[in-house]
Amino acid sequence: MCLRLKKKTVIKPKTTIPITDIIRKREINPRRRLDPDYIEELKNTSWPPIVVNKEMILIDGFHRLEAAKKRGDTEIEVQIKDISLDEALALAAKLNTTHGKRLTVLELADRIKLLVEEKGWSQQKAAAYFNKAQPWINHYINIAKNLDSTIITRVINLDYASARELAKLPQNKQEQAYHLAQKMAEQDRQSFPTSRLIAKAVKKIRQASLSPTDGNPDWLKLSTLWNFSSCDPGFGFHYPGRIPGQIVLNTLYYFTQPNALIVDPFGGSGTTLDVCRRMERRCLIYDLCPARHDITGHDISLGFPQEARNCDLIFLDPPYWRQKRSQYTKDEGSFSNISLKEFNRKMEKLIIDCYATLNTGGYAALLLQNTTELAQEITQTGKYYVDHVFDCYRFFVKAGFTPVQRINVPLTWEQFAGFDVKEAKDEKRLLGLVRDLLIMEKA
Ligand SMILES: C[S@@+](CC[C@H](N)C(=O)[O-])C[C@H]1O[C@@H](n2cnc3c(N)ncnc32)[C@H](O)[C@@H]1O
Repeated sequence: MCLRLKKKTVIKPKTTIPITDIIRKREINPRRRLDPDYIEELKNTSWPPIVVNKEMILIDGFHRLEAAKKRGDTEIEVQIKDISLDEALALAAKLNTTHGKRLTVLELADRIKLLVEEKGWSQQKAAAYFNKAQPWINHYINIAKNLDSTIITRVINLDYASARELAKLPQNKQEQAYHLAQKMAEQDRQSFPTSRLIAKAVKKIRQASLSPTDGNPDWLKLSTLWNFSSCDPGFGFHYPGRIPGQIVLNTLYYFTQPNALIVDPFGGSGTTLDVCRRMERRCLIYDLCPARHDITGHDISLGFPQEARNCDLIFLDPPYWRQKRSQYTKDEGSFSNISLKEFNRKMEKLIIDCYATLNTGGYAALLLQNTTELAQEITQTGKYYVDHVFDCYRFFVKAGFTPVQRINVPLTWEQFAGFDVKEAKDEKRLLGLVRDLLIMEKA
């Protein structure tokens, strides 16, 4: 196959071209900086062709190009790939995971996050591209979002497993964990900590931060306003409607004891399961369309499975009626993408089922946001919004529950895209940020 260049030169996919024809774009290079020592080393060796696209934009070989220039070469061997700029972004990272100077874990994490969160790649597509399982992609996105980047500059040999462990901690605790692991390594006469020691140190720090007797841990709320600006990466993963695990931490802290049986029928990314494991609660978790192997597939419209009977707390985080309806499963039974009448019917039945399933003295915790979006169905009835929390409050009382708390758990402003804001402005409508957690007891 031959390719035609702007200059009308016909070239083969692998050929030699003038160095001055090569275009370098900062955004394609996944590295934070080039390594001058590595460039010096390359000057005295032979190397495989650098990779460019049809426009001669450099995809792979940033160090080699610099070495060739330093050596005084005027031409360089190139391999030409017929790919788009977005594909070039992915290839630039992929090639550097298998040859030459490897990317640091944070450089690879940044590139994976860019592909998934800005270039619209699904996690499945990214996993297939890098020949990895989907949780690997999730961990990398968590690393990009949460790893303290100053650690990576000091610890050059930080591997994926160690970075994944450190990213489970808030950034201000990662340094402490690394030092603790380093001390353990010194005791074992090792020069730097292995990922196993880092995992041990992270666990120690997380356990300590779960004990409210040692002051107030970051997640502990002392009033009925539970506002969290981001999701603790240790609980659940990037998923539509994922909630901060800190909400579940507080719920379990205030309303259950260790070893209590917790049930979550709307499991999503498994946030409740991860919190239960950390807080030493037993957990049964289901979802109509499980996103993890440790979540059981079950349609809660059909009632709770027998194994959930006599549980101590049921955590309910259903779809908030129509919100995110395009992102949740459209399987039959879904609480999303249905009429308001049907949603209310399902919620009322679910609440009656909770009452039948809970132990006496047990709690149902329901997290729900009202709808302020002007759905045709709402405007036709002359209403301005739907107060799901109020409706469900009534269903709980009717089913025999005693109200214990109504906790305000606001959403963050970032959830709104530009068009949401514009639409609300055009309709002269308030955007909904209020979300409530109802705690109801089967007294
Ligand atoms: C708001 S999300 C839960 C998010 C979860 N709390 C988290 O932090 O990842 C709601 C979940 O309900 C599930 N769902 C919808 N209808 C369901 C049904 N009938 N039975 C079980 N799960 C259902 C959806 O698949 C979705 O994962």
